[in-house]
Amino acid sequence: MLKPVELSLDEMGDLAEIIPASDPEVKVRYRTIPSFEESSRRAIIPVCEPTLNGNELKYVQQALETNWISSAGSFIHEFEAKFADECGARYGIACANGTVAMHLALATLGLEPGDEVIVPTFTMIATINAVAYCGATPVLVDSELDYWQMDVEQVAAKITPRTKAIIPVHIYGHPVDMDPLMELARKHGITVIEDAAESHGAEYKGQRTGSLGDAAGFSFYGNKIITTGEGGMITTNNREIAKLAWNLRDHAFSTERHFWHKFVGFNYRMTNLQAAVGLGQVEQMGKFVEARRRNAANYSTRLAQIPGITTPPEAEWAKNVYWMYGILVDREAYGMNRDELRYVLAENGIETRTFFIPMHCQPVYWNAFKGQRYPIAEQLCRDGFYLPSASSLTLEEIEYITQVIGDACPALR
Ligand SMILES: Cc1ncc(COP(=O)(O)O)c(C=O)c1O
Repeated sequence: MLKPVELSLDEMGDLAEIIPASDPEVKVRYRTIPSFEESSRRAIIPVCEPTLNGNELKYVQQALETNWISSAGSFIHEFEAKFADECGARYGIACANGTVAMHLALATLGLEPGDEVIVPTFTMIATINAVAYCGATPVLVDSELDYWQMDVEQVAAKITPRTKAIIPVHIYGHPVDMDPLMELARKHGITVIEDAAESHGAEYKGQRTGSLGDAAGFSFYGNKIITTGEGGMITTNNREIAKLAWNLRDHAFSTERHFWHKFVGFNYRMTNLQAAVGLGQVEQMGKFVEARRRNAANYSTRLAQIPGITTPPEAEWAKNVYWMYGILVDREAYGMNRDELRYVLAENGIETRTFFIPMHCQPVYWNAFKGQRYPIAEQLCRDGFYLPSASSLTLEEIEYITQVIGDACPALR
C-alpha cells in the first residue's frame, strides 16, 4: 500500500521557520459589518468565488436538451477556438483539468527517465507532479524578488545535455520575463511549456500568456479567472503538438482503425457540459480581467499607507491579471508577522490563503532536493499571503479589508 512521506518540522532545520501556521477559522461576521451587509450576501469574504451570471446556464441547458453531455459536442470546439483566440494561439485542446493539461503537453515531447525539466520551486505542486508523471526529473530554480516569478537568470546554470523542457509559471497572474528565457531555450533546442494556470488574459510585451512558449497549460478550476468547475486547456501555435495532444487526450485512438493504439494515451477529455460553462465564461473574460485589475489598484492605493506591506508588483512590460492579490508582510515594519495578521483578518470574517510552500520543502520531494536552498522562494513563502481576490469583490469590501489591516497594524498605533 502507498504510504505518505512524513516530514517533521524538526527534520527541516531552519526551513521549518517558513512553514505557515495552520489556517485560522474564518468567523462569520456579515451581520456586524454594516458596509457589506446590504451590498453582498456573503457570510464571510471568501478568498475567491466564481461569477456565473453570463450565458453559462443557457448553454448548459442547450447541451442537456440536445443530449450532448459527454466529450463530443459543439461547445467543446467553440470553447477551444474562443479561448485559444483570446490567448493569441492557433490551437486549443480542452482537458479535464490544468494538471493534466500540463501532463499532456509534456507527454507530447516523449520524455524519458533521466530527461530533465527546469521548473521554479515557488509554484503549485501540479507543475512539478506533471514532470514526475512523465518519469522525468524536475530541476529547480529560485524566484526573483521584483515580480515573484521564476528567476530566468538562474536557468542557464541549470541546463545540461539532458534538459528537454523549461516550465515558466506565471505565478498569481504576472508573466515571467519570457524574451531571455525563449532566447536561451532556442539556443539549446529546449521546449518551453508555459504553466499559465493562473494567468488568463495576462500579457508580456503586449502578447498574451498561452502564446509565448511552444505550448501552455491553463486551469479552469473554480477559483480561476474563468472556470468550468474542473477543467483545463493546452494552447499552442505548434500543429504537431496540437495534433498529438488531441490524440493522446482521447486514449490515442488510431485513425487507421478503431481500437488500435500506437501510444499509451489517456482519458483527459473535458465534457460538453463543462465546455458550455467555459464558453459562457470566456465571453466575459475581458470583463473579469478588468475587474481584477481595478480591484488590485483599489487595494494597492489603500495599502500603500500602511508600513511593512508590499503590494503585488507589475513590470512595465507586463499586464498582471492579479489572479490572486498577494501581499508580503515585513514583520519588523508592520509590527506582527504574516500568520498573526491572517488570524486578525479571519476574526473579522476575511478569508486569506498563504503563498505556496516551495517544492524543495514538500515532504514528498524532500529527498529529491535535500540540502538545496532557494532564499527568495523561502522569503515569499514566509511573508506572503493573498487577500480576497474574486472578480465580484466590491469596493466596499476592499475598503473594509484594508481598514482591518490598517487598524491591526501595531506600527501605526
Ligand atoms: C500554477 C498551477 N499549475 C497547475 C495547476 C493545476 O490546475 P488544476 O487544479 O486545474 O489541475 C494549478 C491549480 O491551481 C496552478 O496554480
